[in-house]
Amino acid sequence: MKPFTTGCMRYDGENFTILDQTLLPHQETWLPCHTVNDLVVIIQRLAIRGAPAIGISASVLLGLLAKQGATQTALIEAADELRKARPTAVNLMNNIDQMKRAIIDGPLPDAVIAEAEKLLQEDIELCERMSTNGAALCQPGDKLLTHCNTGSLATAGLGTALGVISKAHQVHSNIFVWVDETRPLLQGGRLTAWECNNRHIPHKIICDNMAAMLMAKGDVSRIFVGSDRIAANGDFANKIGTYSLAVLAHYHKVPFYVVAPQTTVDPECASGDAIPIELRGEHEVKGVSGSFGECQWAPAQSEVFNPAFDVTPAKLVTGWVLDTGVFNQDDVKQPNWWLG
Ligand code: MRU
Repeated sequence: MKPFTTGCMRYDGENFTILDQTLLPHQETWLPCHTVNDLVVIIQRLAIRGAPAIGISASVLLGLLAKQGATQTALIEAADELRKARPTAVNLMNNIDQMKRAIIDGPLPDAVIAEAEKLLQEDIELCERMSTNGAALCQPGDKLLTHCNTGSLATAGLGTALGVISKAHQVHSNIFVWVDETRPLLQGGRLTAWECNNRHIPHKIICDNMAAMLMAKGDVSRIFVGSDRIAANGDFANKIGTYSLAVLAHYHKVPFYVVAPQTTVDPECASGDAIPIELRGEHEVKGVSGSFGECQWAPAQSEVFNPAFDVTPAKLVTGWVLDTGVFNQDDVKQPNWWLG
């Protein structure tokens, strides 16, 4: 594999390392990733997260294992193990399935390395196209709102929803962003705020429960969010809290857009009901942890419900911003609408 650097992954020709997002924004630590087990642990504890980024990290690791001489059987086993690391983001499954085709068709290792490099490059280009498509929907002076983190920490490129926001900031004057903190793991307050600072995008962090008040005051022009899986009917899964944001946007008549690459569409899921939702550990809801250590504030004996994602029904979406175009309510009723 050729050396590369993205916002969350690096390969210097010898070592593959991943930026530990659990320690951001205060500490930038790069974790070595040599084995399937290394990456499964890194993905499961969200040291790398975001639908496109986890798919690309798995493809890169398979490319590197092939380069080191892994056999076809070992590579298939590795791919199957990585495919199970997290259940909701379909990008992981889609990327792994493409890698498996290269492993089976060969020749090894060249075809596998080439496929990993292709997927990495493709994600950078998809981000660029989505960002341009979404920025065209914005106007100077817009006050945008976003949820979770969908930038260079979540993709190989500029990002999905945060890519749109960055592009809008480049091409329009006075773009401002409300950043939902995104409980329980604060991907907005920690990671999106960090990326907005790096990109010099004017922003303010809000607690998730402040969005309604801002919409009621007319202080939100448009909302852009990412997605982990889009069903064939346009329903989509994203970070928990996205659905409530969509309901609020509908009530207050604020345009609500989902931004994702084609690799996030799952034609096998007819509707959002078929999207598997990851349930996570109780410590995430009962406290906080990070570079500063860990603090649990809830009573130890209390139980917790912690779904990592929710599903937003298509009827609440103003537009689907993909690399292939911007689609509306009528478009998503057509077969294979996501192909453009
Ligand atoms: O649990 P996470 O942090 O992986 O959740 C990430 C999201 O929900 C993102 O919005 C989604 O993956 C799109 S990222 C471009």
